[in-house]
Amino acid sequence: MKKKLKVLVLFDGTSPTTVDQDFTKELKTKDWKTEADVMAALGAVGHTAEHLAIYDDVDLVRQKLETFAPDILFNLVEQFRNNPGFDQNIVSFFEMQGLPFTGCGSTGLTLCKDKGISKKILHYHGIPVPHFVVIPRGQRITRPKQLKFPILVKPVKEEASYGISQASFVANDEQFRERVAFIHEKYSSDAIAEEYIEGRELYVSLMGNVRLTVMPIRELVFREVPPNEPKIATFKAKWQPHRGGVQTHLSFAHDRRLCANRPAANSRQQSLFHRSQPKSYSRQR
Ligand SMILES: Nc1ncnc2c1ncn2[C@@H]1O[C@H](COP(=O)(O)OP(=O)(O)OP(=O)(O)O)[C@@H](O)[C@H]1O
Ligand SMILES: [Mg+2]
Repeated sequence: MKKKLKVLVLFDGTSPTTVDQDFTKELKTKDWKTEADVMAALGAVGHTAEHLAIYDDVDLVRQKLETFAPDILFNLVEQFRNNPGFDQNIVSFFEMQGLPFTGCGSTGLTLCKDKGISKKILHYHGIPVPHFVVIPRGQRITRPKQLKFPILVKPVKEEASYGISQASFVANDEQFRERVAFIHEKYSSDAIAEEYIEGRELYVSLMGNVRLTVMPIRELVFREVPPNEPKIATFKAKWQPHRGGVQTHLSFAHDRRLCANRPAANSRQQSLFHRSQPKSYSRQR
């Protein structure tokens, strides 16, 4: 029988929290479904799980360790003071304290979060990526001639499709300049402009450190997109379908060709996983 562990599950707090704050009410809401599912699953397999939410005070972790000495931290923290840019700093703190934790390490998070750096690493290892250019804030906005339209313009470090809408898809230099300037100003961010790759959008999840388990491939299915429009998982499509976003849903790929390709996807994704240095789990597109 596997060893039963004491697990401290760390949540994101959206306002200041205390060490023994009770989140029973929040855990019953839709927004906290992931947190509730993790707590329930840990309990179901016999581990002892307690939780702590972090907003702007990592000392709470030290305080909690005094009363509940966990074998491991189950890390669901994705931001600090509501800023998702600090997820790698939180993990750096665990690493410095020598605390074992689940999920990606700070190097992997830092590299994968930067859409420019991660593509440069993959390209170095011979893994095909779209042609792209990074245009830092404050730099003159020009398109290198070798970068061909249509192009998708995005903030270089955001995630979850922040800053991505149908207007991110640009087909001429005027639209290109406008969108890059918009990303610089509205998101206070450097911009990345990538050649638009047409095709199906597949997601492959992996779990492990050295030997990886490749999960079944899933496909993002776009509904109601007219045939001449680009299929993009915009912010609205992901988070606000009820506000005019295109309906999307992730379905498991039943396409026989995809299933047959799983061993190939397997070795490709494993290689991607190791090249970009995450640990524990990752999701790739
Ligand atoms: N070069 C591209 N060609 C075609 N579609 C793209 C391209 N880049 C992004 N997209 C579309 O935009 C969506 C969001 O882009 P991307 O995944 O790069 O950003 P994100 O979801 O904010 O970042 P992350 O996946 O790192 O959290 C993709 O799911 C895809 O639908
Ligand atoms: Mg994405």
